Amino acid sequence: MTNPVYEKLMNCYASVKDRLPFRPKAALILGSGLGDYADQTEVEGVIDYHDIEGFPVSTVAGHKGRFVFAHINGVPVVMMQGRVHYYEGYPMTDVVLPVRLMKLMGAEILFLTNAAGGVNHDYAAGDFMLIRDQIACFVPSPLIGQNLDELGPRFADMSQIYDNKLCDVIRTAARELDIRIQEGVYVQLTGPAYETPQEVRMCRILGGDAVGMSTACEAVAANHMGMRVCGISCITNLACGMTDTPLSHEEVQETSDRVAPLFKKLVSESIGRMGIL
Ligand code: HPA
Repeated sequence: MTNPVYEKLMNCYASVKDRLPFRPKAALILGSGLGDYADQTEVEGVIDYHDIEGFPVSTVAGHKGRFVFAHINGVPVVMMQGRVHYYEGYPMTDVVLPVRLMKLMGAEILFLTNAAGGVNHDYAAGDFMLIRDQIACFVPSPLIGQNLDELGPRFADMSQIYDNKLCDVIRTAARELDIRIQEGVYVQLTGPAYETPQEVRMCRILGGDAVGMSTACEAVAANHMGMRVCGISCITNLACGMTDTPLSHEEVQETSDRVAPLFKKLVSESIGRMGIL
């Protein structure tokens, strides 16, 4: 008996595999604010999520839904323009299906980006944070259920989800570009509401530096499959209770738009340097 999660993944793969313009080395997930990055590359191919049978399609306004294929500084990359979030109501296995699919396309590296709230008092809106580790245990693990032995082991090691060498590459790229980058721990909560002040304090007590509603589950699924993972958060705001003003999606959007040019430079430079790894 085949597993329905695996079957769905293989059906999706069957429906894309003859349409791939090349074999990607890296997969890049574009978080809010970075979405139009893909449009600025020399696009070599596009696959709309709607054209992949059974593929989860994002319901968030402003999130496009497609894979974009392009060489970035010489490196073949598949980008996700739009991701699905757990808060949209999809099961976790659907949320991480795109990551698994990009691995099947050939991607060895997963580069995660997101917008996040700063929990660390030393952070400011507009900062970037290199993700060094994560707390994913407030959301269901995407690995729950029958293990997909074809993808990875039942009890996957998570001692170094974020690859040290890739972190080094991002650090070097930031230094070369003279971009300040913080380093810290990303906490994934379910959303879709922003946190309460006490939840933000909880994140800080637990060792979190940034909080968001994506990414960590994707990193777990990728690590399970043996991908090398790295990620950068764009700190779009200080988390709830750290300033006097209430949080709004507009504020998040505004900051990510403001720093998007720098973010894009950092991502491009980093990916170029990952080509030789
Ligand atoms: N909390 C959760 N997710 C977010 C935030 C936040 O403060 N900012 C951007 N994404």
